[in-house]
Amino acid sequence: MGERVRVDTISETDVPEYRRAVEMSSERIRPWNPVNAGDLAYHLGRQSDEHRTFLIRALPEFRAREHTVVGKVNVTGITRGRAFNGVLGYDAYDPYAGRGLFADGLRLVVDLAFRAQPHGLGLNRVEAAVQPGNVRSAGLLRSLGFRRRGDYPRYLWLGDASGREEWRDHVVHGVDRAEWPPERYATHDHDRPVVVVTPTGRPPVDADVAAARALAIELGVPLLRERSGSWARCLDDAVTGAVVLADLDEARQEGVRAHDVVSATDLADPASITRVALEARFRAHG
Ligand SMILES: CC(C)(COP(=O)(O)OP(=O)(O)OC[C@H]1O[C@@H](n2cnc3c(N)ncnc32)[C@H](O)[C@@H]1OP(=O)(O)O)[C@@H](O)C(=O)NCCC(=O)NCCS
Repeated sequence: MGERVRVDTISETDVPEYRRAVEMSSERIRPWNPVNAGDLAYHLGRQSDEHRTFLIRALPEFRAREHTVVGKVNVTGITRGRAFNGVLGYDAYDPYAGRGLFADGLRLVVDLAFRAQPHGLGLNRVEAAVQPGNVRSAGLLRSLGFRRRGDYPRYLWLGDASGREEWRDHVVHGVDRAEWPPERYATHDHDRPVVVVTPTGRPPVDADVAAARALAIELGVPLLRERSGSWARCLDDAVTGAVVLADLDEARQEGVRAHDVVSATDLADPASITRVALEARFRAHG
């Protein structure tokens, strides 16, 4: 139980209200998740140690007229053995979406996932896979302190807003019990490998640059070399992308092509920084 919401396991009596909640929200959900207002019966039949479904409900003083279901969270693919992990799948329902209630509820679900059995699920790690364009979902996870774990091309077979199904790229975000609850928008800990590649001649010949660049690509880090050319060339070498702190006119004159241009004053807090980063990554994707 939280201050605005509570989290419940599901039962037959939830079916009609759940149906109303999903039907009210179907257009908003469809671009990112399958919509099936009748699927609670399916989940009811599958509740087990490997598959748990929770409903987030608004507490009385936060209830809207239409229904009380803020959202649904499935914890599926639960593996124990030596992993003790589970995968979160979720939707928020109108008229509650976008008001922070779902985030409150998801935090409670993760609390439960990490709590020891029999009161909780006894997990060590939870993850959620999000499409690169779904910045609301990724922003929600980052707001709870989940960190980006990795990119998975063609990860799930899903439809889009028009119903066209195909394998969709996803980014997995995760958190584990030892770090829960993390700070909101917890910063990422990157490995920062540094390797010196000595060239065969001075100045380096093309083959030296190609070799160093190949190493940079393999490590997923920028290739930095003496800035003898333009910003455009420096950026060409920055294989993981870069943030350029420069006067916009100068950058344009030098041929810098950016996914986004923001003022430093627009990056005053972690939520704004996260939003700019998510949008830029989405624009750069594919
Ligand atoms: C993803 C979804 C469940 C989020 O629910 P929601 O009710 O919008 O989320 P909340 O209002 O609780 O938002 C909580 C956090 O997300 C962040 N967030 C919301 N919109 C955002 C956006 N456009 N960009 C970045 N972050 C955003 C908020 O900043 C907020 O954090 P804050 O406390 O720092 O302000 C909901 O949008 C949804 O149902 N989407 C359609 C289905 C879907 O995408 N399911 C998940 C598939 S992976």
